[in-house]
Amino acid sequence: MTALHPQPRSGVLDIQAYVPGKSGAPGLAKVFKLSSNETPLGPSPRAIAAYQAVAAHLEDYPDGAATELREAIGRAFGLDPDRIVCGAGSDDLLNLLARAYLADGDEAIYTTHGFLVYPIAMLGTGAKPVVAAETNYTASVDTILATLTKKTKIVFLANPNNPTGTYISFDEVKRLHRGLPSQVLLVLDAAYAEYVRRNDYESGIELVATSDNVVMTRTFSKIHGLAAVRLGWMFGPADVVAAINRIRGPFNVNAPAIAAGIAAIADHEHQERARQHNSRWLDWLAEEIEKLGLKVTPSVANFLLIHFPETKGRTAKEADAFLTARGLILRQVAVYKLPHALRMSVGTEEANRLVVAALKEFLAKTA
Ligand SMILES: Cc1ncc(COP(=O)(O)O)c(C=O)c1O
Repeated sequence: MTALHPQPRSGVLDIQAYVPGKSGAPGLAKVFKLSSNETPLGPSPRAIAAYQAVAAHLEDYPDGAATELREAIGRAFGLDPDRIVCGAGSDDLLNLLARAYLADGDEAIYTTHGFLVYPIAMLGTGAKPVVAAETNYTASVDTILATLTKKTKIVFLANPNNPTGTYISFDEVKRLHRGLPSQVLLVLDAAYAEYVRRNDYESGIELVATSDNVVMTRTFSKIHGLAAVRLGWMFGPADVVAAINRIRGPFNVNAPAIAAGIAAIADHEHQERARQHNSRWLDWLAEEIEKLGLKVTPSVANFLLIHFPETKGRTAKEADAFLTARGLILRQVAVYKLPHALRMSVGTEEANRLVVAALKEFLAKTA
């Protein structure tokens, strides 16, 4: 007779654990990590200094309410700090939102190539992830609305989306919101908002401010270059904020992260430099890679989705091996239902030029 074992709740064993992008290549001294949408500029020097200063007081607990950080974010965006919650990365907040609003038997919607943390967060609560089909690698408001049922509790939408880099306009987000019953929570994940240069884009602030069922999440991991310290924030209706504050860890954001975040959000010049670097090299990469005969999905973020043929010798998998051997680490995205593509972060000028040269060599070799 076998003994009974502790069992996780239903859904947990259906989770495929998140696998982060590779960070190295064996045997190579110099690698360019272009697999996790990090910034090639690093953090603001002011954020590094603020982070280091906290090292003298590691014996102290952080401010559990992250008050100064919420105030700094509030100043930067003109928001009420009481409507902001900070988290250990936006991952933390996405999971907390799922935990607070989903239960066994509920449904939550995300899109075909949506960010993988969403189904993981949903399954962890016992809820059922429901996939809404995309059109041209872009979220479709019509299919999301058609996917709604009485059981739907949350719609998670990354805008722009990772790994596709595509976005939907503010008008489309508003149309989505209008189509949702008032008890369904719309989570707008704007991790890449700072990079978007489109007049018809809005990160979610306006919709959160004017409705009771919309939350926007943001991160310090991307344009602020603080992925290592794990820092994110959300802006939401007062009762959603109150719910998340009830279930979050009492000290879910650490003191060095709080200090670095306060300095980073105020360093507008650093953010502008990062934006300009990105705009320039995003366009350059898309153009140069398309000239090689590969399709690139139009991106408004700090990464690109590059599509490869299925012909032997030219596949995404083989390209990845070829690039990795040269210290160029991109991201395979088969887990995102994109087995024939690689995602590349916009890197330094050196890294960007090396990738284009290596892809040219890869395609010439197999022609
Ligand atoms: C769409 C999207 N949302 C959220 C995150 C998580 O960011 P964080 O580092 O704040 O947890 C990422 C990170 O890759 C992302 O791509």
